[in-house]
Amino acid sequence: MRENLLKLKESALQELSCAAGKEKILDIKTRYLGRKGELSSVIKEMGKLLPEDRPVIGDIANSIKAEIEQKINSLLNKIHEEEQFARIAAESVDVTLPGRHLPSGHIHPVTLVMDEVKEIFIGMGFDIAEGPEIETDYYNFEALNMPKDHPARDMQDTFYIGNNFLLRTHTSPVQIRVMEKNKPPLRVIAPGTVYRRDSDITHTPMFHQVEGFMVDEEITFGDLKGILTLFLHKIFFEDTRVRFRPSFFPFTEPSAEVDIQCVICGGRGCRVCKMSGWLEILGAGMIHPNVFKAVNYDPEKVSGFAFGLGMERIAMLKFGIDDIRLFFENDVRFLRQF
Ligand code: PHE
Repeated sequence: MRENLLKLKESALQELSCAAGKEKILDIKTRYLGRKGELSSVIKEMGKLLPEDRPVIGDIANSIKAEIEQKINSLLNKIHEEEQFARIAAESVDVTLPGRHLPSGHIHPVTLVMDEVKEIFIGMGFDIAEGPEIETDYYNFEALNMPKDHPARDMQDTFYIGNNFLLRTHTSPVQIRVMEKNKPPLRVIAPGTVYRRDSDITHTPMFHQVEGFMVDEEITFGDLKGILTLFLHKIFFEDTRVRFRPSFFPFTEPSAEVDIQCVICGGRGCRVCKMSGWLEILGAGMIHPNVFKAVNYDPEKVSGFAFGLGMERIAMLKFGIDDIRLFFENDVRFLRQF
């Protein structure tokens, strides 16, 4: 019996030494140490032994069992440890790898210019107002001294929505809306989107304007010149030359167009300024008495000036962009540059 036990131990240890994997080992455990395993069946035979031999053989059986168990446990521990190492290795982060690049967004050049314009006028005490993009004929034309059939309506190719509604062709209707609701003194700018049926390298059917106006008791053309010159020096350069040319708008009298010295060639003459050395940058004028009458202001008592600025035009000159359509194609290669 002792022989059997020793053989059993030999073969168990032998099998364990070449067992690969947890399952193999657990299988060996059941076969040798399980309730119906080999060791149990040897132990069952002990009843046949002489009583004095039993404790001796019992001892041997127990120590063999312990030895096999110990071997199995140490093998299982080793496997468990290896699994844990593998898991940690798989989960570990290599902090020396280069990071992944997340592309960042960019503020649209028109928005950049719009923000800068707002900031300059806010700095001069102006408030910001807004009006609707779908306007009535009254606000877009009539109240601005352009009655029906007025030839000046043809200056702007309008998108009509039925008879009475239209997409505003300029931000000037906001002048009317603000003056209807407020009393002078007023210092207001009105930024926004405007629409005209026009499309080429300098015109898009939708573009952005900033309207501005100042109304009080003794506002003069000198105020208009002073404020606009200051603004142009801030948005372009401190020493950019500015000139005021007589012009016509139905809602201002007198009216002016304002030019700046060409920022591309410095006034020497180039393709952008059509060799003139000057660039037209905004329209302006003293608010027409008929406009004041439309909002129940007394033109004998109040005076004011108004102006309209094209944002895309300023952005094109500031950033050297030669095709206005680039602003609206949303090509990220273009937008990324700002
Ligand atoms: N509304 C005019 C335009 O869009 C610009 C302008 C505004 C001119 C205010 C004079 C005064 O062309």
